[in-house]
Amino acid sequence: MWNLFLPERVPHRLSGYIILKMSFIHWIKKLPYTPLQIAMHGYAWSELVLIIYGLSTHHLTANPIQAMEIRTGRHAIALLVLSLACTPLTTLLGWRELLKRRRALGLYAIMYAVLHVIIFVDLNNGLAWSLLIQTVIQKSYILYGMAAFLLLIPLAMTSFDIWKVRLGKNWKRLHQVVYFTAPIAVLHYAMDIKGDVFHFSGNIGAPVAYGAVIALLLILRLPFIRKFFVALRTRIVFLFTKMAQRPQTDREQ
Ligand code: HEM
Repeated sequence: MWNLFLPERVPHRLSGYIILKMSFIHWIKKLPYTPLQIAMHGYAWSELVLIIYGLSTHHLTANPIQAMEIRTGRHAIALLVLSLACTPLTTLLGWRELLKRRRALGLYAIMYAVLHVIIFVDLNNGLAWSLLIQTVIQKSYILYGMAAFLLLIPLAMTSFDIWKVRLGKNWKRLHQVVYFTAPIAVLHYAMDIKGDVFHFSGNIGAPVAYGAVIALLLILRLPFIRKFFVALRTRIVFLFTKMAQRPQTDREQ
């Protein structure tokens, strides 16, 4: 069956393992999506699928609305951080495909943020606007959530190529807003959970970890740090290429 995927030039004497490996690689190359795309879309949709499954099987805790709110919020922040990580990781690893996935990750983050807000406004507060305003005034962490959400909206609306052309240089400036959005969203997260971020007490592990990762990702974007890592990567690649070529050179001599 695997031979169906084999390129014609593979010699018959190759071992079964190599044939299997080459067939697999050939099959992967023929897929309309790259493995990274499959992993990204799979991860992004997985939470929604799990939430729907949990709802349909009544396994979404005793308070399903709160569970949905928490899970959509957490997934939104995770996807936001992943989209923010694409550029620094390209600098570190030279894996340029990551840059192509940035937009989809950002849009997925916004999709979960929209679901998160809909759950809050509709399911949690029954669209009772006076109650909503009261909650926003009473709970300051909601204000941070709102700020993060409002900053995400123009990014979602202008994420398409046509806006990139229309806005020119301003598009990049506008999309740098995400550098503020992610820390504000983390602040919202940190203030919601039962703990005190400023005194490092309670259940603050996850928001502190997110904060640290975001800080690191922003530092890696600084031009002099980026240049340092690009130079380091080029050197490492050069060294590896040289090492790989050495036995061949010895034989030639
Ligand atoms: C208008 C905007 C927003 C509102 C009204 C809002 C509302 C809420 C509420 C009520 C909770 C508490 C859930 C609970 O513990 O019962 C919460 C938690 C959370 N929200 Fe938001 N949120 C907003 C925007 C955002 C955005 C933009 C993000 C991320 C990008 C986000 C991420 C989170 C996270 C990670 C949690 C904590 C989940 C946990 O307890 O582990 N929120 N939000």
